[in-house]
Amino acid sequence: MKHLRFYITLLVSLTVGIAKAGEGMWIPMLLQYNEKEMQEMGMKITAEDIYSINHSSLKDAIVLFGGGCTGEIVSDQGLLLTNHHCGFDYIQKHSSVEHDYLTRGFWAMNRGEELPCPGLSVIFLREMRDVTEKILHGTNVDMPEDERKAKIEENIKKLVADTEKQTPYKVSIKPFFLGNEYYMLLNEEYTDVRLVGCPPSNIGKFGGDTDNWVWPRHTGDFSVFRVYADKDGHPAVYHKDNVPYKPAKHLEISLKGAEEGDFAFVFGYPARTNEYLPAVAVDQEANLIDPITVDLRGKVLDIYNKYQEQDPKVRIQYASKHASIGNGWKKWMGVTEGINHFHGVEKKRAFEKDFQEWVLGARNRYMYLDLLKNFDKSYKELEPYQLAYTYLAEAGLRIELISFAGRFMRLFRTSKATPQEDIDNMVSSLKKTAETFYKDYYEPIDREVAVMALNEYLKAQPADFRPSFLNDIKDVDEYVNKLFDKSMFTDKEKVFDLLDNFKYSKVKKLRNDPAMQAYMSLIGFYQDEVSGKMSELNANIDRMRRLYMKGQMDMQTDKRLFPDANFTLRVTYGKVEGFKPQDGKTYRHFTTLEGIMQKENPDIYDYVVEPRLKELYNKKDYGRYADKDGTMHVAFTASVHTTGGNSGSPILNADGRLLGLNFDRCWEGTMSDLIYDPDICRNISVDIRYVLFIIDKFAGAGHLINEMTIVE
Ligand code: ARG
Ligand code: ASP
Repeated sequence: MKHLRFYITLLVSLTVGIAKAGEGMWIPMLLQYNEKEMQEMGMKITAEDIYSINHSSLKDAIVLFGGGCTGEIVSDQGLLLTNHHCGFDYIQKHSSVEHDYLTRGFWAMNRGEELPCPGLSVIFLREMRDVTEKILHGTNVDMPEDERKAKIEENIKKLVADTEKQTPYKVSIKPFFLGNEYYMLLNEEYTDVRLVGCPPSNIGKFGGDTDNWVWPRHTGDFSVFRVYADKDGHPAVYHKDNVPYKPAKHLEISLKGAEEGDFAFVFGYPARTNEYLPAVAVDQEANLIDPITVDLRGKVLDIYNKYQEQDPKVRIQYASKHASIGNGWKKWMGVTEGINHFHGVEKKRAFEKDFQEWVLGARNRYMYLDLLKNFDKSYKELEPYQLAYTYLAEAGLRIELISFAGRFMRLFRTSKATPQEDIDNMVSSLKKTAETFYKDYYEPIDREVAVMALNEYLKAQPADFRPSFLNDIKDVDEYVNKLFDKSMFTDKEKVFDLLDNFKYSKVKKLRNDPAMQAYMSLIGFYQDEVSGKMSELNANIDRMRRLYMKGQMDMQTDKRLFPDANFTLRVTYGKVEGFKPQDGKTYRHFTTLEGIMQKENPDIYDYVVEPRLKELYNKKDYGRYADKDGTMHVAFTASVHTTGGNSGSPILNADGRLLGLNFDRCWEGTMSDLIYDPDICRNISVDIRYVLFIIDKFAGAGHLINEMTIVE
């Protein structure tokens, strides 16, 4: 009997537990442990070829781009590829009505035409070290949490300082496995990065928000930059005499494309996943918080859409807001669907049952004994605070007038004693903020959002646990009319009047403004009633999650677990393949230019096709970039585990050559941040041959192609 139970437990943990092919975001310095599996799946190179500190390896070509995306070097002249949506801000900053690079695209025809991008940097990882022992030195499981934290901080500080004395690199130390392990990262940051080229938005963003997160996809989501260095190859601030950076390694490009079932891997900077949460947390996120957020955002987007369709000016004004609200809206919809379709909560519960049995199996597992019970309790306790926070962010602060008023908080807090110089600085930065705000502000939208948001807020949040100004509202329409009629923040001139020659005596005006008062009430409630309690509960939850992580590692010694994404360089691998999102529906793994022509609709902004692209399509002028089937492949899917931050990451073939740039996932599988299912989780990449075709044939920037190492 005892045997049988052991056997069943093992079996269950094998099926639920084992990282399925495709799952996992692996630490490059430990890739030798995955090498065998990767090679069995088809990889022809070695772990050393991917990450090495003894000789050049693929890692020398990968960068963290702009602090939020991934980029890769594709020539010995520092040429870099990333997504269009990753370069978007920098392209936008260079765009004006005369030089509308967003709409028209941009191509530097020589080095002199490349555009500097102040504020943009790329970071190369030079080396990674396991420093767990040194960082956890002096800590133990039973010590109070704040003591432990202080000890770890002290250890980190010392080790960073010691190491920085010995290396030219920037040193940071990050927790992995929720604080059970620590790794040191030696980085080098280059700050002279220039824009080299980008396609017009109706290629780089083709399908826009409508197609975002959705397969089939036809977005040419790429842009081209170049990293510059001083003449010795070291990082340097922008200078016209800087020279193109010579990397230790640049990626080779394959023109062969990929077949269904081919091995592929992604090398980049995934930002955040939560794969080891208890069931109660997954349930709370997927079935409570996400649906509320999706619902509120959906209502906001409906209002935006209505006005955006009526007026092209408003369409542009709200394009970026729409994109960022819409991105999460669609993603979280997919998370809920995926978790429920895949029975994610039940699977977690089944695993927890095994875990509890395992805990009971030996006396030295006492520290895990009440863990799961306490998780249920703690997450329940957290719930009202999570909801309060969600309504604050997704309803209260979604009213632009109120959140804009909040930007004046610091000015509001000035006193007679505040030095004039400080006031002048605040005023000049607020003037910039105000310029940007009013450029993209449309009051009728905001009024309608306000009515919707306040009604939702009042409906959902109890009177004794919500910002006090809400309890004074008798009639929402009336309140909103008064708010917008009386607040000066609807009127750019009034706001600049206030800012010009700002003196302490003007603070009163701010104090009496109803939008400012609403903001103060929202934030005051958050500070007094929510944030303190929430951090306290979260600190305890973090401690339990760290312990639970350790328990999961101890229990499954037969299985290699991967640490959650934390914005450090990772390798993830799987196969190029399509999927079956639903009974009776199958998705092929690639799309072609035909699909762009099928989606074409000159009346819908997202689906306008460039005449030049149509011309090339009609002539079938694809050159060497055509697939062997004769068509132009645009995008493809693979079962590779990716998340936000992986955008722009290279997807590479068995030889370690570039197949494309990762840019998205299929929304049916966005739950992969919580639970990965190889049957429905797919990442989406733009085919490198489409990228090169656009650069070469569409833009006539063949000089860039000549720099690259292309393998036919
Ligand atoms: N969904 C992708 C990601 O999470 C792409 C977002 C940018 N594209 C867009 N149409 N908004 O970042
Ligand atoms: N689109 C995401 C990014 O920008 C990638 C993802 O979430 O799959 O990083």
